[in-house]
Amino acid sequence: MRATPIYYYSSSSGLVRSFAERLGRPVHNLAEREHRLSEADGPWVLLTPSYKTGNDTNDTIPEGVRRFLRSETNRRRLVGVMGSGNRNFGRHYQMAAREVARRSGRPVLFEFELAGTPWDVEEARRIMERLDQALADRPTTG
Ligand SMILES: Cc1cc2nc3c(=O)[nH]c(=O)nc-3n(C[C@H](O)[C@H](O)[C@H](O)COP(=O)(O)O)c2cc1C
Repeated sequence: MRATPIYYYSSSSGLVRSFAERLGRPVHNLAEREHRLSEADGPWVLLTPSYKTGNDTNDTIPEGVRRFLRSETNRRRLVGVMGSGNRNFGRHYQMAAREVARRSGRPVLFEFELAGTPWDVEEARRIMERLDQALADRPTTG
C-alpha cells in the first residue's frame, strides 16, 4: 500500500520538522527549494504551521507552502491538511491550515500545538494509516 507523503513547512526552530520526522513515512520540507518547486506524484497531505506576520492582509501561510500550492497538479492532488500552532495566538490559532483547507475544500485532518506530544504523534500516525487505506480502496486515483 502506498504511504501518502506529507509535505511540510518548518522554520529554523524546527518544531514541525520534529513532528513530521516521527510519523514514519515519507516527509518533504517545503523550506527546501528542491521540494518547494517539485510536484507530488500522487495524493499528498500538507502539514503547516501558522505565522502571523502583522501585515495588512494578516497572512499566516508560509511562503514555501504558497509556492508549492501554485502548481495546479499539487492543488488537485492535495487530500487533507494538518496544522501546528500555538493557542496563545487566539483567533489566529491554526489560521494557515484552516485557510488552506477552506480554500481547497479539503478537510483539516489534525491540529496540534508546537512540536506535538507523543499522543499527538500516535494520533497523526493512525489518521494517516486510515487515509492510506481509504485511498487504496478508492476506485480511481487523481
Ligand atoms: C512569529 C510567530 C508567529 C506565529 N503565529 C501563529 C499564529 O498566527 N497562529 C498559530 O496558531 N501559531 C502561530 N505561531 C506558532 C507556530 O505556528 C508554532 O510554534 C509552530 O509549531 C512553529 O513550527 P516551526 O518551528 O516548525 O516553524 C507563531 C509563531 C511565531 C514564532
